[in-house]
Amino acid sequence: MSSWTEKEEPTLTALLSRMTLEEKIGQLVQLPPKGDFLDHELKTLIEKGHVGSFLNISDPEQIKEAQEISLRKSRLKIPLLFAFDVLHGFKTLFPIPLALASSMDPSLVEKVARGSAQEARSYGIHWTFAPMLDITRDPRWGRVAECPGEDPYLASLLCAGWIKGFQGDALSSSSFLASCPKHFVGYGAVEGGRDYNSVNLSLKQLKEIYLVPFLEAFKTGSFSTMAAFVAINGLPPAANPNLLKDLLRKEIGFKGPVISDWNAVKELVHHGIAENEKEAVQIAINSGIDIDMASGLYLKYLKELVLEGKVQIDTIDQAVLRVLSLKHKLGLFSGRSSQMEPNKENLQAIIKTNRELALEAAINSVVLLKNENALLPLSPSIRTIALIGPFSTEQKEHLGPWPGIGDPQQVVSLAEGMKAHAPLGVKIAVARGCDFFTSSQEELRQALEMAKKAEVIIVAVGEKASMSGEAASRAFLELPKAQQKLIDILLQIGIPVIMVVFSGRPLDLSPFFYRVKGIIQAWFLGSETGNALGRILFGFSNPSGKLPMSFPRSVGQIPIYYSHLPTGRPSGWSIPSTGYLDQKISPLFPFGYGLSYTRFHYGFPTLNHTKIGLDDVLEVYVEIENSGEKAGEEIVQLYIRDAVASISRPLKELKGVKKIFLNPGEKQKLKFSLFPSDFAFVDFEGKRKIEGGRFFLWVGPNAVEGKKVQFELAW
Ligand code: BGC
Repeated sequence: MSSWTEKEEPTLTALLSRMTLEEKIGQLVQLPPKGDFLDHELKTLIEKGHVGSFLNISDPEQIKEAQEISLRKSRLKIPLLFAFDVLHGFKTLFPIPLALASSMDPSLVEKVARGSAQEARSYGIHWTFAPMLDITRDPRWGRVAECPGEDPYLASLLCAGWIKGFQGDALSSSSFLASCPKHFVGYGAVEGGRDYNSVNLSLKQLKEIYLVPFLEAFKTGSFSTMAAFVAINGLPPAANPNLLKDLLRKEIGFKGPVISDWNAVKELVHHGIAENEKEAVQIAINSGIDIDMASGLYLKYLKELVLEGKVQIDTIDQAVLRVLSLKHKLGLFSGRSSQMEPNKENLQAIIKTNRELALEAAINSVVLLKNENALLPLSPSIRTIALIGPFSTEQKEHLGPWPGIGDPQQVVSLAEGMKAHAPLGVKIAVARGCDFFTSSQEELRQALEMAKKAEVIIVAVGEKASMSGEAASRAFLELPKAQQKLIDILLQIGIPVIMVVFSGRPLDLSPFFYRVKGIIQAWFLGSETGNALGRILFGFSNPSGKLPMSFPRSVGQIPIYYSHLPTGRPSGWSIPSTGYLDQKISPLFPFGYGLSYTRFHYGFPTLNHTKIGLDDVLEVYVEIENSGEKAGEEIVQLYIRDAVASISRPLKELKGVKKIFLNPGEKQKLKFSLFPSDFAFVDFEGKRKIEGGRFFLWVGPNAVEGKKVQFELAW
């Protein structure tokens, strides 16, 4: 393949100076595949240099062919960039991001992102539209499945792992992907949890909550970002220079390319911001959208707009330089074909390692929500188990939303995984009992007959993968009716029932919480689902996941999150107080919650100072003991509260997370260090500030429990 060689590698400004206006605009055009991808029209566009990148093409042969046309036939031989949504794996599927967030483990997230990058890159993909960093407090929104949960501290911690993993030490090596944190910024606050709905946020909320993980992403080295396509305070980012220019470029100093979300340029017309498509292009490029994803409108109108003087050539040049520098960082001008083309040489070895990693990630993503009388792990003395429910033999649904090119046939089902891990001689009888949404008398009858002969019933229920993810908001968060009916019938038998729940979001589990003996929140765990759950059910692995989002008792409690503000009439007072007449205000399970097969005892936190100054570091020590009978991991969480400030502060804010492994009887003293910036907040003008005064601090197993101490910031 003819291309640039290392010696010839162009300086980007020299390259820019050789480009025609059409070629420049081409770099700002990203197109999706057509039915018959390389049709004549697309080939001609590549040859002329009128397209700079493609998205959603995963066939390595097509990628190779397109790249060859660009490198052989286009005038300037600028390599194409191939982008794909690698959210939680490509061929091997790892747990969905919300599930992986339950591991609260950035090093695991990093390994998962690295494994995903290696697979995708070997197919010729260079750029992933990930991580998704939208904070959200509304489980009705289907896209919670893609995000790291409700908390900006946790999201930042994990996002660093995602970016290091995708990008590695050198983006120019041929096994990494450029990351693209999305959706800048605030999409997670869509009103009513309804996808594509508008967002209303104060500058304070935007900067204190929603922007935080993006800042971490840019600090960690993300060199591109995707603008959200929803209207935020009345303006979609594609029409908002305050967001993309003043905040992102000037204030944050971000230098990489900004891509629109799918069709967002065209959608400015639907938003009622642009009169027509041409005006939409003018607004978008002038607001700071460098690359037009999917709409094709830059290709159609940008030249005309430049010639009419409505878009300055300097605006185009700056955008093109940013795209070229992304290609340069990826090593695409180095002339090494391994950088540009698919290379499946090591793919089998990568997949083998990734399967092991997928198992580790899945085990760490499982959250044990209830375990009455320590029924789990299942005792070897239990000889007959009934596994019932639409998820019992399911494979495809475990791939979750954004399933890459995952093959459902390669997914280990729950039934397979349980059979592989059950002690010798244990009988596992399997029946679906009902479909996801419907049931037949006959199916129910068979399941019931089978269940009656068992000592314990595992009921595998939940949402289909398509019920979460993009455009999959729900107004009701209960299990589908047919599955509720199945559980009701099984509960009547009087044999202990354990629920394994698959979902892309917190569901409303209240109807069954008090009636079943155990609940395992299994999210969508990916390729190794069955093996991970088999290990957990039979006690080969001890669950350690903690919830990255609060689980509501009912939809009426939403939005629900732990770090809410105090009110003037706290709940529980004798006078009318914050609350509902017909529902508690506490969640069914709080943020950070998750059980283990062992018990952990938390000591009182001790501090190096009870009064700290501006230059001090607050050191917090706490001893944790495994006081149970099994080895296990615990995710230890540190929260603070600014007791009195010039603006009311949240009742609790997460400021530290550590995961430890302890053998039975073992103790470990942990140290957390807090810096002045950990006590800062954002004022109404959007400025970060620190105020002295009284603070509380807790170290505990979740956002509700924990031992409390007090200290003072003295400045
Ligand atoms: C989604 C993005 C995604 C893009 C490309 C859009 O609909 O909002 O998150 O990256 O499609 O697939």
